[in-house]
Amino acid sequence: MFHELARVVAAGPYDVNDVLDRICSEVRSAFDFERALLVRYDSAAETVHAVVRQGIDWPGDEWLPVDMFPFLRRALEAGRTLYVQDPRVEAAIPEKLVERFGVQSIVAVPLAVENRCIGFLVLDQAGKEFELEESESQLLTTLGCVAAVLIEKADQFAELQEAVEELRSVDGVKSEFISIASHELRTPIAVVHGVASTLHLRGEQLDGAQLRDLQQTMYEQTSRLAELATQLLDLSRFEAGVVVVERERFRPRQRIDELLLRLVPDRIEDCMVEVEPTLELLTDPGAFERVVSNLITNALRYGEPPVVVRAENGAARFRFLVEDSGNGVDPAFVPRLFERFSRSESTSRRAGGAGLGLSIASSFAQAIGGGLTYEQAEPHGARFALELPKQALVT
Ligand SMILES: Nc1ncnc2c1ncn2[C@@H]1O[C@H](COP(=O)(O)OP(=O)(O)OP(=O)(O)O)[C@@H](O)[C@H]1O
Ligand SMILES: [Mg+2]
Repeated sequence: MFHELARVVAAGPYDVNDVLDRICSEVRSAFDFERALLVRYDSAAETVHAVVRQGIDWPGDEWLPVDMFPFLRRALEAGRTLYVQDPRVEAAIPEKLVERFGVQSIVAVPLAVENRCIGFLVLDQAGKEFELEESESQLLTTLGCVAAVLIEKADQFAELQEAVEELRSVDGVKSEFISIASHELRTPIAVVHGVASTLHLRGEQLDGAQLRDLQQTMYEQTSRLAELATQLLDLSRFEAGVVVVERERFRPRQRIDELLLRLVPDRIEDCMVEVEPTLELLTDPGAFERVVSNLITNALRYGEPPVVVRAENGAARFRFLVEDSGNGVDPAFVPRLFERFSRSESTSRRAGGAGLGLSIASSFAQAIGGGLTYEQAEPHGARFALELPKQALVT
């Protein structure tokens, strides 16, 4: 018998349900019982819950108060096998259950590890009265302890497996990251390589217009590469928790004008900056620029001009708004808008991005004590708002 239980442990892998099932059937067949229930016990809530049923049609699997079954309470307190010859006489089980399951005699074996009870084995002869000798009762008590150790091992193994699964999913996220990032890097690198080989092999035969075309492509792709490198660096800094924010006085209007010249020199006329030149902020200028430049690039890439940048000083909050006149964000995609690597199906084919910009912008907004939100603009278009704490405004 012990040998059989030992084999249950040795067999592994420790699938909890399988272990419970096997314990139940080993004990049942070794002692020739007709029916067996394996019940889990929650000592904090004082409730029990049937997890294995053999030969008995025990209904439902909800947790019930242990006091509904006086014989279990008695076995718990005795810390050893309890044999009840006639449950009616001894008031060990509610009348209704005795009738329903035709119980005559019954045995409850506590499953105990180091004085902690984790469950019970309940055994009977399906409507026949039986005797239980003291030696059998002692053996069952010992088996209950062995079984309890096995169950705890199986539980721990299941927890371990869950932790391993979690780690695997973190690994999965990492490999998704690597595959998207390398795809995003490869595309501009391949284009730049193509342009460079054309110049190298046929440079002298190209006319002025063709050369300008190649220059333009080279400029766009290297800008994309530089942006991607900055994004990946930002991302790893946020991951490592080493982003430091500073507080500095600066004029946002001046910063926005400068970044437009740097970022989108050929689309300046599509942007309208309606921010007072004298407005002053006290926050991290680098973080502010990272957020605003991400929003402007997106508005020009996915929306329609004009792109309007303005400040709004409300009663409760101070916001920087970037609005465009396009179709706005697909409503089905809005809940995932600020997630890392998320791109809407409707736009990604047209203008491939890595899906990192908004998640990084949102991290920067939070790092300076604010937040990033989205709403539909009227009558149409996207409106992103960088919300800043009132203290960021110099008055
Ligand atoms: N102004 C906008 N109008 C419509 N859709 C937008 C707008 N801004 C963002 N989106 C949608 O949100 C998605 C996520 O934007 P996000 O800036 O995070 O990533 P991306 O622009 O695709 O790539 P990356 O910024 O990393 O180059 C975009 O792919 C686009 O579908
Ligand atoms: Mg973007």
